[in-house]
Amino acid sequence: MEFEASPTPQVMLPSAEELPSLGLGTARMGETAARAATELAALRTALDMGFRVIDTAEMYGAGGAETLVGRALREAMAAGLRRDELFIVTKVLPENAHPAAMLKSCEASLERLGLDSVDLYLLHWRGSVPLKETIDGFEILQRRHWIRHWGVSNFGIDDMRELIAVPGGAACSVNQVWYSPTQRGVELDLLPWMQLYQMPLMAYSPLDEGDLVRHPVLARIGQRHGATAAQVALAWTLSRPGVMTVPKAVHALHLRQNWEAQRIDLSPADLAEIDSHFPAPRERRPLAVR
Ligand SMILES: NC(=O)c1ccc[n+]([C@@H]2O[C@H](COP(=O)([O-])OP(=O)(O)OC[C@H]3O[C@@H](n4cnc5c(N)ncnc54)[C@H](OP(=O)(O)O)[C@@H]3O)[C@@H](O)[C@H]2O)c1
Repeated sequence: MEFEASPTPQVMLPSAEELPSLGLGTARMGETAARAATELAALRTALDMGFRVIDTAEMYGAGGAETLVGRALREAMAAGLRRDELFIVTKVLPENAHPAAMLKSCEASLERLGLDSVDLYLLHWRGSVPLKETIDGFEILQRRHWIRHWGVSNFGIDDMRELIAVPGGAACSVNQVWYSPTQRGVELDLLPWMQLYQMPLMAYSPLDEGDLVRHPVLARIGQRHGATAAQVALAWTLSRPGVMTVPKAVHALHLRQNWEAQRIDLSPADLAEIDSHFPAPRERRPLAVR
């Protein structure tokens, strides 16, 4: 099997390591046996196409998504893909985000993924465990070389400020939040703050879980590029400095279109049209969560 080289657009972690700005999401994968073959095929196709960042979580399909990702990765690596070409992201549930439970969670995730380590381990959302305990857990996992980087998800600006004030908290590499043309609240505070810290924002649900894929304004812009509304939404997300994204797709055509969206260069007129139909909010609002 031939594996394509990594795509060109990249984002940089605070450690100065670069990674592709387009990855693949896996929410709702691994939930039912009936869909497993289709989902595994999608993961194989994505790796074959060149996707190197895969975003999963212990929560998705109660481990089922990680198991499918693991099967696809094992096959791809047996066929010649190198581990160091991949960037695998998984997430720990908030109730498991303290050292003892995190060790078990991470070990189980690694087992399902068939890997010795993940590249990025995220706290899925903030729960009741004190941030210091979560950071302690991440540091233990790093010392064991089970995780390379750690980060958070669904953290607003106040959570981020609190996090980096905790000893060790400034080592956070990424914050994964909902960001799409309809969800631009982060542009007022969180995104500029993260840009200042050179911490990528990993945009989830960039297609609003599919709600944006037939949007007439995005479709009209797409016509000028021979592209679909979904591709325009992804091109817009990827055009934001310091932003990467992980759209989920199972259909091969969607995977191909999402991959090709990296090549779409939106013009100032396109961006102005998006701004006029999806204006960034003028006032701070709570972080949008799915
Ligand atoms: N940290 C968090 O709390 C959090 C929350 C939500 C999501 N996430 C992560 O972010 C990922 C992406 O978000 P998401 O899954 O919620 O939604 P999404 O990526 O915004 O949308 C996925 C939906 O869009 C469809 N789609 C994908 N590409 C398309 C295309 N080119 N044309 C038309 N339709 C297309 C997919 O269909 P098919 O699958 O049928 O191809 C699927 O129904 C998740 O999978 C997960 O990894 C994280």
